[in-house]
Amino acid sequence: MSHLIAPSVLSADFANLQRDVEMINKSEADWFHVDVMDGMFVPNISFGFPVIKAIKKHAEKPLDVHLMVADPDRYLQQFKEAGADNLTVHLEACTHLHRTVQAIKALGMKAGVAINPHTPVNLLVDIIEEVNIVLVMSVNPGFGGQKFIENTYHKIASLRDIIRSTKSKAIIEIDGGVDMNNYKKLIDAGASALVAGNTVFSSANPSQTISELKNSKSHL
Ligand code: DX5
Ligand code: ZN
Repeated sequence: MSHLIAPSVLSADFANLQRDVEMINKSEADWFHVDVMDGMFVPNISFGFPVIKAIKKHAEKPLDVHLMVADPDRYLQQFKEAGADNLTVHLEACTHLHRTVQAIKALGMKAGVAINPHTPVNLLVDIIEEVNIVLVMSVNPGFGGQKFIENTYHKIASLRDIIRSTKSKAIIEIDGGVDMNNYKKLIDAGASALVAGNTVFSSANPSQTISELKNSKSHL
């Protein structure tokens, strides 16, 4: 399967959100990456349910919702109702991660688990078979446009070993600092989905940038 591209709406022009949603609809992107920040788990606040519903109204591709939210169990049903197709929670934000993952799937969404740059992938060993997506943060979460952390490549390799040694069908999604210099290397390392915010929306031709990110041939 070819890798997936998920432009991050966090870097869109919120005053022209419908225009940017339509651009993604017409592009070769696979998902809308939707970053929800609560000002507690991360030192920033983004947007909540009304904005997600507004995106959903126009989006013709799945919403890949990334919750940077403390204790996300409180809101799973509401994110489903707002239109989330994939719902990713942070391992660091969940006391009972197994229960949270089951609850997300019971609501009919794909379940993702995100890990911060400092969190070892080994902590996923006993949950990996339950999870649809592992989102590896390649920057510290909270802001778009940050510098990619190089240690991410090691994490992808270790994660692939874990996935291979289990019955897991989880895909690896990389989020943060993905740009035109590192995207091919990330795909070669084993990433199946790439999030891109700044790289897409600050480019002169966002749709063409998405196409380039999508059509890179693996070196493998
Ligand atoms: C960061 C968010 C990312 C962010 C990525 O906390 O989770 O999804 O939008 O933005 P870029 O691609 O600009 O690093
Ligand atoms: Zn994200």
